[in-house]
Amino acid sequence: MKTFKEHESQVRSYVRSFPAIFDKAKGSILCDEQDNEYIDFFAGAGTLNYGHNNPLVSKALIEYIKNDGIVHGLDKATKAKKLFLEKFYETILQPRHMEYKIQFTGPTGTNAVESALKLVRMVKGRSNVIAFTNAFHGLTMGSMAVTANSFYRDEAFINRSNVSFVPFDGYLGEEVNTAEYLRTFLEDQSSGVDLPAAIILECIQAEGGINVASDKWLQDIEQICRDFDILLVVDDIQVGNGRTGTFFSFESSGINPDVITLSKSIGGGLPLSMVLLKGELDQWKPGEHTGTFRGNNLAFVASRELLSYWENDNLSEAVQNKSQLVENRLMEISEKFTSLESEVRGKGLINGLKIPYRGFCSDVSEEAFSRGLLIELAGAEDDVLKLLPPLTTENEILEDGLQIIEDSIEAVQEKREAMIEGLNNDSANNK
Ligand SMILES: Cc1ncc(COP(=O)(O)O)c(C=O)c1O
Repeated sequence: MKTFKEHESQVRSYVRSFPAIFDKAKGSILCDEQDNEYIDFFAGAGTLNYGHNNPLVSKALIEYIKNDGIVHGLDKATKAKKLFLEKFYETILQPRHMEYKIQFTGPTGTNAVESALKLVRMVKGRSNVIAFTNAFHGLTMGSMAVTANSFYRDEAFINRSNVSFVPFDGYLGEEVNTAEYLRTFLEDQSSGVDLPAAIILECIQAEGGINVASDKWLQDIEQICRDFDILLVVDDIQVGNGRTGTFFSFESSGINPDVITLSKSIGGGLPLSMVLLKGELDQWKPGEHTGTFRGNNLAFVASRELLSYWENDNLSEAVQNKSQLVENRLMEISEKFTSLESEVRGKGLINGLKIPYRGFCSDVSEEAFSRGLLIELAGAEDDVLKLLPPLTTENEILEDGLQIIEDSIEAVQEKREAMIEGLNNDSANNK
């Protein structure tokens, strides 16, 4: 790790949580320089839904490069982009009767969010946007302004204005309908909340702690948008691309967003971000929003291959089955360690175990890493273990990973109990 400490900025983060030098990966397994294997329940924060080095992708990329395919093309027309656009329309949009224009933005998720925010403000001629408690939309200025966690929102960064935060589904407890709460604010000319251009939301707040919005709540928010002439932006960057069992995370609710942001797994591990916008919102002037890396031809090639997973229901069904397996095991674990008062959360293959004891999840993640599992934390207090395996993970590997979680919780609990006992003994001896 010396090289990284010496040369890389302090801002580095995952290298701290997972201190190994990774060298190779296949499917749901990572290998470090010493050939130690790790089960990956992190999947590049949702970028590797189809696994590391998916054979379809590797084969197509090698072929494309061997044939001197275009690698960089600004936003010029390329064959790779044409084939991607056709495939995305045929496999994703058309079967769902969805009519959207596609805007390619800069390569990372936050670029798509920035573009979406700029677009909705331009179209509606209003600056305010409504975002939700615990939201995470990226860390450039505009996206950070709709991101809730104070860790990222240093006052010195200035640009956090023109956003009203309101409570997400469940934020005020099960008995409070926060959609009604929002409606009251919008109806009241004296609430202090300006009529927004848009409401931006994640159907499942991933970074925010695996907070799953109910279909009913999503439908209520959509109705509010229609009643008040507000655009609805769904940020599907982390929980789209099949994570919940359907391609888009909102499909079970039947809502019809005006704008959708997509990134992470859409590029099959390569950087690619896009905004889907309703035709009538496509009011950009040519070249009004540009960027050098809009659309990535290698990612188009990768993505086109992976979109074939959506030609039938096999992946969706597999995700539902695996989801059941993970949920059942997490329930078992939760029931085994009753004193931890843990809570199981999730939908599809994004699952969480909330353990409301300071530092406990972080200790479990560290312990799990030493036993060969990568698992990340979520929630403002890092109090949720976040399970985000590739959707293609074999059941045996899922079971092995879940076993490591159970064993790690047990080990952390034992260490903590031993520590408390030690402290008690010390204080008894000092009396
Ligand atoms: C919902 C959501 N939106 C936006 C982003 C930002 O994406 P990126 O980190 O690629 O800029 C993320 C990243 O985790 C995300 O989860």
